[in-house]
Amino acid sequence: RDICVILPAGGSGRRFASSDNKVFAALAGIPLWIHTARRLCRSSQVCQLIVAASPTDQPTFRQHLEHWPLPRPVEIVDGGRERFDSVRNAIAAVDTGTANWIAIHDAARPLVPTADIDSVFRAARETGAAILASPLAGSIKRDIGQDCRNVDRRDLWMALTPQVFKLDWIREAYQRHRGYPVTDDAAMVEAMGRPVQLVQGSPANLKITYPDDLAVAEALMRAQTH
Ligand code: CTP
Ligand code: MG
Repeated sequence: RDICVILPAGGSGRRFASSDNKVFAALAGIPLWIHTARRLCRSSQVCQLIVAASPTDQPTFRQHLEHWPLPRPVEIVDGGRERFDSVRNAIAAVDTGTANWIAIHDAARPLVPTADIDSVFRAARETGAAILASPLAGSIKRDIGQDCRNVDRRDLWMALTPQVFKLDWIREAYQRHRGYPVTDDAAMVEAMGRPVQLVQGSPANLKITYPDDLAVAEALMRAQTH
């Protein structure tokens, strides 16, 4: 048990357009983020969870943990202005005596399949860094002003989470990063010249972003348990 899971949950869900943080939305009667945390806890390799949350949301996270306890220690740290800041705060709180690996997974992705978690964990242990990703399904166009150009999609992938890194690699990447905050943790590890392995994951591992995504997630969840 040496993988520490970081769940960035410090956003406000502007595009989701509810008054609360979208990760509190009920999915099959349970807060969305609890589904997410439960899925990660299914792996016996996970030693600890760190949730990054805004100070105003933290009492709600604690209440949820009392109602829906998780089988691993959970620490709650302050989220920041950008996802980058939230993850950085969480990395600073990792128990370095126990964890050798960090798996960063959006709290807003409750549908990640257990098999995908296992495969990205396995790949990271072999290479040092691995992320789930799925091949692009549609045709891709580059807007060049008046018109557009088709983009060959054969080597294009959409990054998903979990993104899993050797503890030292991701700590160093966050310390060294300069410039604008990025939304993809692997981007910073790549920037240090480290190889990041792509592991094909299910596109059903969707991120709840817009209100309609919740109905899609409920349907997918029903399909997964049948
Ligand atoms: N996140 C975070 N800290 C932030 C911003 C985002 O921890 N300052 C988290 C979100 O809570 C979410 C994940 O990063 O679990 C992915 O971000 P996104 O889907 O963009 O969520 P929000 O930022 O909450 O949504 P929006 O961009 O629509 O406001
Ligand atoms: Mg956001």
